Amino acid sequence: MRKALSVTSECVPLIKTGGLADVAGALPGALAPSGWHLRTLLPGYPSILKAVGKGKVVMEDADLFGGPGKLRSVTAAGLKLFVLEAPHLYDREGGPYLDAAGKDWPDNPRRFAALSWMAARIGAEGVGTWKPEVVHCHDWQAGFAPLYLSEMGEGRPGTIMSVHNMAFHGLAPAAERAALRLPARRFGQDGYEFWGKISALKAGLVAADRLTTVSPSYARELLTPEFGMGMDGLLRQRAQDLSGILNGIDTGAWDPATDPAIANFKSPAGKKRAKAALREEFGLPEADGPLCIVVSRLSEQKGLDVLIEALPALVDQGGQLALLGSGDRALEAAFRKAAEAHPYVSVRIGYDEDLSHRMFAGADAVLVPSRFEPCGLTQLYGLRYGAVPVVAHTGGLIDTVIPASPMALRSGIATGIQFHPVTSHALAGALMDAVSLYKSPGIWAMLQKNGMKQAVGWEASAPDYAALYDEVARP
Ligand code: ADP
Ligand code: GLC
Repeated sequence: MRKALSVTSECVPLIKTGGLADVAGALPGALAPSGWHLRTLLPGYPSILKAVGKGKVVMEDADLFGGPGKLRSVTAAGLKLFVLEAPHLYDREGGPYLDAAGKDWPDNPRRFAALSWMAARIGAEGVGTWKPEVVHCHDWQAGFAPLYLSEMGEGRPGTIMSVHNMAFHGLAPAAERAALRLPARRFGQDGYEFWGKISALKAGLVAADRLTTVSPSYARELLTPEFGMGMDGLLRQRAQDLSGILNGIDTGAWDPATDPAIANFKSPAGKKRAKAALREEFGLPEADGPLCIVVSRLSEQKGLDVLIEALPALVDQGGQLALLGSGDRALEAAFRKAAEAHPYVSVRIGYDEDLSHRMFAGADAVLVPSRFEPCGLTQLYGLRYGAVPVVAHTGGLIDTVIPASPMALRSGIATGIQFHPVTSHALAGALMDAVSLYKSPGIWAMLQKNGMKQAVGWEASAPDYAALYDEVARP
């Protein structure tokens, strides 16, 4: 078996705020058949240390950015893990990135520099006989690792920087340079400087051997000023090194044939029962339009403010919305208000994995009106569970949903609805299309059937990652 280290700030089933956790959790299993053995490095948040137990201390650092750090090797939930225990950085209440009040931890740059530092040490020194040929870094939280490694000279492993979301740059004031153990000579436009600050993501983008993102369309979009978020120039220079590899979903966890949320899915009666149960759970009455769902972080990226404006186009025609989400306080309040105003809108503010399964099981459609979407996973759950995706024409949504154009409908290949641009007007049009397609049961059933046939697992993408690992590997 060949060896690779995956470096991430979240990973299912241990800690999750978004799709990164799903991908990090899936990669080891997806890559095993191609001969790549992954170990995953995670910060020792209290919940993780509690869940995985003590394991064995395999590396220590007396001064890990202001306190001692211990690397624990442990197997949990089928994953081979390195967990970085460093109480001064991770032992606190709150989320991985935010305190209980929803504000970034002020020492985030150091917290994740420490993670990256340990990744570089594992890469350069190995742990016992286990020395990775590849270090695969996810998002800004792992961004310093390729830079640290590139400073360590010969004998280092190959490095890959994967962008799951270009909106988060991991910025720190320039004054923290020495504290973050960054070489002064690389603070500049062609190094890790971003408009006078330090950017952990940019460090990874300049220093890694190869760059990836999570869909081919987002890889193309990242080269443009509109989506590149200030990194597009750098990425155009490195376009040869950048590839877009589409995410899959865990088709074992998301399996309509075995999911208790949707027993007997194969019979139309199964979906009907799940839908009735979902309506009841959300307190929605019977209606003759489609029952649409949203399961999402509530953030600017997801375009849900636009959905609030477009709601009349759905509910006035008998459509309904059940939303599960949390995040931006103003959006939470706006959705609560929308639910009070429309009997056909019902909202749960929170995070609830089980409920999300029941929602995909019972839904006719899933809405994803994102302003940008590197890949997106909920449209994939929708395809698999017969909840037709209504999505913005952007990023991974382009690559995963075949829009119901007249031609695609005639040739019987469509799987969903796409709209563009992300405005209330365009979304309202898409919602009206959804209602009218839904009211032609034959067509709707075809969309559902096509979607359910689509491959949404890791079969297609795992070999692409394996090929990339083969290319960058350094023994
Ligand atoms: P992002 O990573 O940008 O949030 P993705 O679509 O890639 O978007 O992944 C989001 C993941 O988080 C999906 O697995 C989705 O089902 C899950 N999710 C988001 N919000 C919630 C919620 N409130 N409750 C349960 N699951 C959620
Ligand atoms: C990010 C993106 C999302 C993607 C996920 C996993 O959070 O916003 O589009 O699916 O990462 O790669």
